[in-house]
Amino acid sequence: MTLVPVIAIDGPTASGKGTVASLVAEQLGFHYLDSGALYRLVALASEKEGIDVKNGPELGVLAEKLSISFEKGQILLNGADVTEAIRSEAIGLRASTLATHPEVRRALVGLQHAFRKAPGLVADGRDMASVIFPDAIVKVFLTATAEARAERRYKQLIAKGISAKLEDLLRDLQERDARDSSRGTAPLLIAEGAQVLETSDLSVDQAVKTVLDWYRSKAA
Ligand code: CDP
Repeated sequence: MTLVPVIAIDGPTASGKGTVASLVAEQLGFHYLDSGALYRLVALASEKEGIDVKNGPELGVLAEKLSISFEKGQILLNGADVTEAIRSEAIGLRASTLATHPEVRRALVGLQHAFRKAPGLVADGRDMASVIFPDAIVKVFLTATAEARAERRYKQLIAKGISAKLEDLLRDLQERDARDSSRGTAPLLIAEGAQVLETSDLSVDQAVKTVLDWYRSKAA
């Protein structure tokens, strides 16, 4: 039996992984996993239930029983549309804190593996290549300087009509980088065999094309 191919795209916050990964998936007709959305869903649900972000065991139990579905661009949590609600900076920060708990990470493994379906999967996150899909055919570490990433996030927020300060965004982003890279369980790192894609001076199209070229040369 040949395994369904996975393209793993990891990288720090606001590196553009989501945009690049979903376009690569679209071009290849592959499925797409936004693993960060799962941590954001746990953040939202646990906030609603008043669970302390430091309580790993209780968060793990909650993560196990969440009913999540991704349907036509919408994300549903226990039947309610939370597509927009999980995207706030506050939920992102909460997600990055609770993602340090091994109980939470363990609870989400099966759900992530279930996305691996024919003809293929593009998975984006922090530990796709190192932990969840270590046999990925292509492993990409997609990054950009902190300044370039803060600027991108700033433009995204302003375009949505949300006010933001560049210096606050840069500080939050550096805090999140430090937490994601230093945690004991599944830290953000350049996995063995991963190719680094530095996108500070690349357009989205150039980044997508590079990943597609890497995939085609491996798949050939
Ligand atoms: O949008 P941004 O890149 O900031 O975050 P995200 O990909 O939506 O993920 C939210 C948070 O979940 C991150 O800050 C990570 O701490 C955590 N996460 C993780 O630990 N492992 C993953 N595979 C994906 C996200």
